[in-house]
Amino acid sequence: MAPLRLVQISDFHCTKITWNPFRLFSKRFLGNLNWLLFRKNRFSLEPLNALPKLLKSFQIDRILLGGDLTTTSLKEEFSLAASLVKKLPAPWIAIPGNHDQYTRLAERQKHFYRYFTNKRTIQHKADFFTLKDHGIEAHRLSPHWWIIALDTAPATNLYSSTGLFSEKQEAFLEEVCSLLPMDASILLFNHYPFFQNDIPRHNLIRGPVLENFLRKERRIKAYLHGHSHRHTIANLQPSGLPVILDSGCSTDREHGSFNVLEIDDQKLTIDVYRWNGQWSLSRKEEIQWTR
Ligand SMILES: [Fe+2]
Ligand SMILES: [Fe+2]
Repeated sequence: MAPLRLVQISDFHCTKITWNPFRLFSKRFLGNLNWLLFRKNRFSLEPLNALPKLLKSFQIDRILLGGDLTTTSLKEEFSLAASLVKKLPAPWIAIPGNHDQYTRLAERQKHFYRYFTNKRTIQHKADFFTLKDHGIEAHRLSPHWWIIALDTAPATNLYSSTGLFSEKQEAFLEEVCSLLPMDASILLFNHYPFFQNDIPRHNLIRGPVLENFLRKERRIKAYLHGHSHRHTIANLQPSGLPVILDSGCSTDREHGSFNVLEIDDQKLTIDVYRWNGQWSLSRKEEIQWTR
């Protein structure tokens, strides 16, 4: 059987600056200010514009969009991100990041899902669960391979970008896994890393609970995430955990990256593409599944 080929790409941070004089010092105002002062020169849409042409030369089964597609969840930003995604030459699965549910209103009204609702045909018991309503969604990628997508990005206060793996979501994850075939191999797809990092206000709350779940559920072979803007490949199988893949930030002018993953029942091959005025293959890794 032909291997599964996936593109993992994340953290577009599409931005449209708006100033509302009645919302001075709101979270969006400060987010825009932060963008203009510190981040504007770090990001570019040029890498995204170059992507469709490059990806057309590959045979891709799915494109995995790892969240933070916008900066402050403005509808103009979602429109821009959606117009870029529309040009990509394969079906996609998208999850929101903290920047896509940036304000309480955007989260409550589920703005992200107006633009990025994943296409599915309802065929399986697990298809009852949806990202929009339950924060979890399973997709069958091939006869043996599944991906479970999570929405762990609640709106937060001004200075925090924490995610939350809630108790309810933990119960849903257990239930979805119990509904999948015993011989399934699973990829878990979440905006946040589950391990705690050096900046607590960027962490996933109850990340250690998710880590414990990953230790127990050995059908989960790889954990795919974004958020940190640091490209990472970590084979944690010898420590009882999945392979960790952070595709990095795709629109970073100097360190932009994304992954092309080739998956079969024996191994995972990761082609890492880096942006340096153009996309080029910078690294190739092969990892045998041992879990
Ligand atoms: Fe981000
Ligand atoms: Fe993020």
